[in-house]
Amino acid sequence: MFIDNRAFFAPWDPVREEDYFTLSKQESVIRAEISARDQGQKMPFVITLDGTGEIIGTININDIVRGVFQSANLGYEIAEKHNGRGYATAAVGLATAHAFKALGLHRVQAGTLLHNVRSQRVLEKNGFRREGVALRYLRIAGEWQDHIIFAKTIEE
Ligand SMILES: CC(C)(COP(=O)(O)OP(=O)(O)OC[C@H]1O[C@@H](n2cnc3c(N)ncnc32)[C@H](O)[C@@H]1OP(=O)(O)O)[C@@H](O)C(=O)NCCC(=O)NCCS
Repeated sequence: MFIDNRAFFAPWDPVREEDYFTLSKQESVIRAEISARDQGQKMPFVITLDGTGEIIGTININDIVRGVFQSANLGYEIAEKHNGRGYATAAVGLATAHAFKALGLHRVQAGTLLHNVRSQRVLEKNGFRREGVALRYLRIAGEWQDHIIFAKTIEE
């Protein structure tokens, strides 16, 4: 999925090394994610089409912090050819419910680029609030770029 959608994801992703787009590197990325999951640092999911099992996206509950924060960051992407059918909206809903109910977190956050209106719509449809703009927040496509921070707490 990451290999097929390389150009589509590039404006929204960190700059990747060339070998990221090989099956062997993808296998090692998956192994690292499983290890991080086993240590309670993140919860990675793939999004599959009912019936076919085709992987059309991923959604990760990242940066799990316990203690007084009980918080995590959501990251997600849907293959270009499957965009616009509500899959990201459904996945964000399921992952947020998992974060609150199964992981016992209090807050789920996501940051979008200022012009990522599709992602902003996905979060708003799931009841996330716009908290404000974090300046030079993440290094995306090679630049430290401002992000709108969205969040939802379990009370919401
Ligand atoms: C953002 C992304 C995950 C959305 O996935 P998706 O499955 O197409 O999302 P959905 O179909 O659930 O919802 C998209 C919404 O954006 C709306 N939308 C699409 N293009 C839009 C545009 N140009 N302007 C405004 N709204 C737009 C859709 O109409 C839909 O809202 P609606 O249900 O109210 O009609 C997908 O485009 C993607 O993977 N992008 C690249 C990676 C990325 O940006 N990840 C998120 C990082 S924060």
